[in-house]
Amino acid sequence: MSKKCNIAVIPGDGIGPEITSAAIEVLEAAAKSRDVEIFTRELLAGGAAIDRYGIPLPQETISGAMDSDAVLLGAVGGPKWDNVEPDIRPERALLGLRSGLGLYANIRPAVVYDELVAASPLKNPGKIDFVIVRELTGGIYFGKNGIYQSGDRLSDGTVKGKIAFDTESYSEGEINRILKIAFDLAMKRRKKLTLVDKANVLTTSRMWRALASQMSFDYPEVEFDCLYIDNAAMQLISRPSTFDVIVTSNLFGDILSDEAGQIVGSVGMLPSASVGVKGKPGMFEPIHGSAPDIAGQNKANPLGSILSAAMMMRMIFGEEEIASDIENAVKKTLSAGLRTGDITFVGEGNNTTLVGTKEITKAVIDNLSISN
Ligand code: IPM
Ligand code: MG
Repeated sequence: MSKKCNIAVIPGDGIGPEITSAAIEVLEAAAKSRDVEIFTRELLAGGAAIDRYGIPLPQETISGAMDSDAVLLGAVGGPKWDNVEPDIRPERALLGLRSGLGLYANIRPAVVYDELVAASPLKNPGKIDFVIVRELTGGIYFGKNGIYQSGDRLSDGTVKGKIAFDTESYSEGEINRILKIAFDLAMKRRKKLTLVDKANVLTTSRMWRALASQMSFDYPEVEFDCLYIDNAAMQLISRPSTFDVIVTSNLFGDILSDEAGQIVGSVGMLPSASVGVKGKPGMFEPIHGSAPDIAGQNKANPLGSILSAAMMMRMIFGEEEIASDIENAVKKTLSAGLRTGDITFVGEGNNTTLVGTKEITKAVIDNLSISN
């Protein structure tokens, strides 16, 4: 009997529907030739859910996601919902899913494909292959926040007015569980781990640093070091190929992963996996946003979503072959010179063809059958 994979698909907004349907098409084709059955169920979240239900994350979506083995998410948000109340912004759906499903570990691999080296803004990027392990359900994203009125004045007499605050807090338990994921991952890779923090200023960062240094004794083979976030932002540009695994807090990981996206040529290429509590589904999504400016025009790069589906096959279903079939088909498609707009660049000669979402997806599917 063939294996069954129950996947909840949350297309979301903007280019989300185009890229998730591309990923599902590829997944179905790849699974078929390996005798695996893909069952999908579509759920609403983000702006799409606000339009339908007035809220970004309906209960039905949370329970639908919970009932699945894994979730494939597109992207949420767009200018249409920029003026809704902060509590019901489309992004709340994403945060609600992450915390509701206990997805505390966000794994964001950044690899520069040989074919896309020239798309990197760096002159000699070298062989870039690192992973950002981002804490995903804590820190300033989920800390106490608010706005209150202060009657005080600043030292020059200016009325203080309203005060807005967000707080960063981390427990030892939250830090240790993500550190463990990062150290374990480093052991499976090139055995290098960098903690990125701001321990020269922040109390939370000092706790991260102390716990990571302590844990490093349990992993004597892992070369462990620490960088301040400002310095890390710079080092990622100056020596990207020397990084292996980077572990960091929610906010710093958000920032560094967009930087990683640009370093490898396009944010449209980067997949991600969010995992956490055992027994609950993982969630897989490209790291890019909903790109409303190109939505519905067959211009979006679906490769980040397609590669996220490959990560899902590997990490949730243990289908290493399906995952590498998909990854190889993506590489072949790039080698054949097919490019969406975001990975088309000046100075690459005439060996590439600008194509749309549908065409590049079809090419990936065609290249799947060639690999088998
Ligand atoms: C990401 C995104 C989200 C985040 C937004 C959309 C809330 O930027 O997944 O990186 O900040 O985590
Ligand atoms: Mg981000």
